[in-house]
Amino acid sequence: MDEEGPECGKPDFVLLDQVTMEDFMENLKLRFEKGRIYTYIGEVLVSVNPYQELPLYGPEAIAKYQGRELYERPPHLYAVANAAYRAMKRRSRDTCIVISGESGAGKTEASKHIMQYIAAVTNPSQRAEVDRVKDVLLKSTCVLEAFGNARTNRNHNSSRFGKYMDINFDFKGDPIGGHIHSYLLEKSRVLKQHVGERNFHAFYQVLRGCEDAELRNLHLQRNPAVYNFTRQGAGLNVSGGALESDERSHYLAVMEAMRVIGFRAEEVRSVHRILAAVLHLGNIEFLETEEAGLEQGHLEVAEEQLVDHVAELTATPRELVLRCLLSRTVASGGRELIEKRHTAAEASYARDACAKAVYQRLFEWVVSRINSVMETRDRDPRRDGKDTVIGVLDIYGFEVFPVNSFEQLCINYCNEKLQQLFIRLILKQEQEEYQREGITWQTVDYFNNATIVELVERPHRGVLAVLDEACSAAGTITDRIFLQSLDTHHRHHPHYTSRQLCPTDKTMEFGRDFRIKHYAGDVTYSVEGFIDKNRDHLFQDFKRLMYNSSDPTLRAMWPDGQQDITEVTKRPLTAGTLFKNSMVALVENLASKEPFYVRCIKPNEDKVASRLDEDHCRHQVAYLGLLENVRVRRAGFASRQPYPRFLLRYKMTCEYTWPNHLLGSDKAAVSALLEQHGLQGDVAFGHTKLFIRSPQTLVTLEQSRARLIPIIVLLLQKARQRCRRLRAVYTIMRWFRRHKVRAHLAELQRRFQAARQPPLYGRDLIWPPPPAVLQPFQDTCQALFCRWRARQLVKNIPPSDMAQIKAKVAAMTVLQELRQDWGCRRAWVRDYLSSATDNPTASGLFAERLKALREKDSFGAVLFSSHVRKVNRFNKSRDRALLLTDRHVYKLDPGRQYRVMRATPLEAVTGLSVTSGRDQLVVLHARGQDDLVVCLHRCRPPLDNRVGELVGVLAAHCQGKGRALEVRVSDCIPLSQRGARRLVSVEPKPEQPEPDFRCSRGAFTLLWPSG
Ligand SMILES: Nc1ncnc2c1ncn2[C@@H]1O[C@H](COP(=O)(O)OP(=O)(O)O)[C@@H](O)[C@H]1O
Ligand SMILES: [Mg+2]
Repeated sequence: MDEEGPECGKPDFVLLDQVTMEDFMENLKLRFEKGRIYTYIGEVLVSVNPYQELPLYGPEAIAKYQGRELYERPPHLYAVANAAYRAMKRRSRDTCIVISGESGAGKTEASKHIMQYIAAVTNPSQRAEVDRVKDVLLKSTCVLEAFGNARTNRNHNSSRFGKYMDINFDFKGDPIGGHIHSYLLEKSRVLKQHVGERNFHAFYQVLRGCEDAELRNLHLQRNPAVYNFTRQGAGLNVSGGALESDERSHYLAVMEAMRVIGFRAEEVRSVHRILAAVLHLGNIEFLETEEAGLEQGHLEVAEEQLVDHVAELTATPRELVLRCLLSRTVASGGRELIEKRHTAAEASYARDACAKAVYQRLFEWVVSRINSVMETRDRDPRRDGKDTVIGVLDIYGFEVFPVNSFEQLCINYCNEKLQQLFIRLILKQEQEEYQREGITWQTVDYFNNATIVELVERPHRGVLAVLDEACSAAGTITDRIFLQSLDTHHRHHPHYTSRQLCPTDKTMEFGRDFRIKHYAGDVTYSVEGFIDKNRDHLFQDFKRLMYNSSDPTLRAMWPDGQQDITEVTKRPLTAGTLFKNSMVALVENLASKEPFYVRCIKPNEDKVASRLDEDHCRHQVAYLGLLENVRVRRAGFASRQPYPRFLLRYKMTCEYTWPNHLLGSDKAAVSALLEQHGLQGDVAFGHTKLFIRSPQTLVTLEQSRARLIPIIVLLLQKARQRCRRLRAVYTIMRWFRRHKVRAHLAELQRRFQAARQPPLYGRDLIWPPPPAVLQPFQDTCQALFCRWRARQLVKNIPPSDMAQIKAKVAAMTVLQELRQDWGCRRAWVRDYLSSATDNPTASGLFAERLKALREKDSFGAVLFSSHVRKVNRFNKSRDRALLLTDRHVYKLDPGRQYRVMRATPLEAVTGLSVTSGRDQLVVLHARGQDDLVVCLHRCRPPLDNRVGELVGVLAAHCQGKGRALEVRVSDCIPLSQRGARRLVSVEPKPEQPEPDFRCSRGAFTLLWPSG
């Protein structure tokens, strides 16, 4: 199971230096000697029967192949099963695994390993229904082998029927059901076996395995030699072990398997009774006695007790059984029935036909019973998704016996059909792949067996058709006449011959044998019994007898027994035609699926371990077409790999691709890699795959990879250590960070618990410095906190104060940090001229004037009023008063009862200019007017700070009206009066008693009493 070294030979025959039989055999032999029984040809698996238990199977091995690509592990059946399973699961394709090879080559064993693999890798969710299906799938083999397998000279456990098993999967890839098709059971084996062979296992198992009491109930004796049908194989056992115990343990295993599958106890008892009945039937013999007066002799059964047994075991009336054995009912036109007595020969023939038919129906019933358990139930594709199928075909291999009969013809025809399919699919697939990948393809010669298939199955002329014709002809047609007919039809066929056509060939007997050159070798068939076997005739009396049995299990096997004898039924299809039809259907079914092939080879004829008979194998290699397979596979290209897979395997051999490439595509990277190795001439680039012409290229790449792997392993080990350390560091960092964040948040919470306390609402709380990761979070929090705090504060302000707050906010917006003192901490009175404290002497006069103005201009509110010192464009300074209402700016004369000197509409005011100092200079700019230059003051100035108030009140008012007020802060204010531009600035002067203006050289100076 370990990786393979070069001493084990080439794991893929495609890698051979030359494709010759010698090289092929040498590799096969070398691998076989090293216990490597599996080798690929591309995706086809060649398997050699080891005839010994090898440590290749079981759960551990299965795990190694699960989810791997075909080439990643040494060749194995599991890899093929896995490939089929993955194709099914990934691409929702139906797939099939076709296992072929001659009898004893290991086909059935292979199919069992495939099933085990599939059972092991499915149902990870442990659904009971899936487990049940898997149990039945695995156990069904054991039951089918008991009834359908027998010891032959080629294989001690030879399948005497063909088996095709479908396993249905749901969209998750779990098996949810299955179906078994069985093909052509070799029922003649019930009657007779070659020397060294046995009847079907089931008979011996019942005889050797049943308890004494049950055996007595079946009227059986333990010794198989007592019964005609089992006498031949009585001294032989299945595998060469101790006789009885072996058979008994098999018997118990089958009983257990039947129980697990779901056979009911009474069904199993019926099965045993039917087997016993067949054995008794086999011992019935007929005596013909002369009786006077009768032209025909009188026929009777030699041992009547046997009839009793058969009647009892089949639960049918004794007289009827006897009548069926000795005579038959014939419908002679109309509704008249005649009972016609058998001759001794006819009776024996009828008895044998009966025994065969009973056994065959039993076998078919077992298969259908298993199917009924495995059937997928209640599936609705719209609800459950599409089901997919993996089919496993384990069908009888090519057979040549000393005497070959109708069954061998069928079996070998089946193998021809499968070979056809193999050729078709392998070639077709190959061709399609080249086309898909855009690569030119060249054809390879190989032997096409289509003509042999034609020889057998062709309508009207083929062997089966000629046989059918013989069977349906009126009069007595003998096998010999059939042979003559064959000779006439196929005289010139290159694959057909007979003694008649080739009189010198003494290996064939005259009038009895014909020979077909099959793709796998020549087989001489004896025509004796062909017609009978093909007709497969069973008297209706007998069918009716079985149908009328009171054993429901037996009765269920004979539904056709209910037909009335007088019903003129159509001639039933012959055995050959039925078989041909089933083969055509099978091949069609397989062709619709994605195929995987297992080609089994039998190493020697003696079933011994560790011996590979070269001649024997060479023959199989030849007829299986394995060399052609290799050639087709290599036609042009020995190997192909999708670009990503190729890179994965070889990227370490090139600096551009290790550890990861930076090229535009995987294809480009592969190209760079190959160029570095100088191998670009030996490959072709498909759309998705790289095609490699000669195996040597692969070998070169493999070698260079092998050189680098130990270094990479070392590197990886080191990197892994470093990676671990780094990972530890990161973990610590992560935890530390988490701790810091938590600690910070806890601290915030602690500090801000007091934030709800009025009146400060957390104004003095200090935000702790956050960890870097929390900085944005904290910024947001701080902003949120400010808003929250503002809201708390604003909430507590009485509505009467709101106007003042708004004005102060407006003032702050324009003056904050630009002007030293804007009177923020003081209550803003606004209308100073009306205030008795501020204007004790003249507030009364002003009130009168205000009244008059209100009547005249009907303003709403006084925004601001104050005494000012004013300078005009003639450089004259005067005391005046300023009044701002919501409609006008008035200049008043305080000396003359506040008479209005000028009124300007408030909308005309565009801005204000103030200085950054403590002085009370204000310049009012208005559209279409001279700028008004004033210094606000009370009558006694030193604590005056009303500039901010004027700015704030006006700004808030404008804001409310939705227009902008331009406020400029400058220590040298430009102004314009009647078109002349002048400047005004402030000069602090300690000795100045009251603020006043001075004019010199076209500029104003406000002399401000400082200190
Ligand atoms: N992989 C294997 N490992 C061990 N023994 C095997 C293996 N394959 C086949 N055999 C042996 O060969 C015998 C015949 O194999 P079987 O599968 O019945 O052949 P086929 O079905 O091709 O006629 C088996 O009974 C078994 O003893
Ligand atoms: Mg088999």
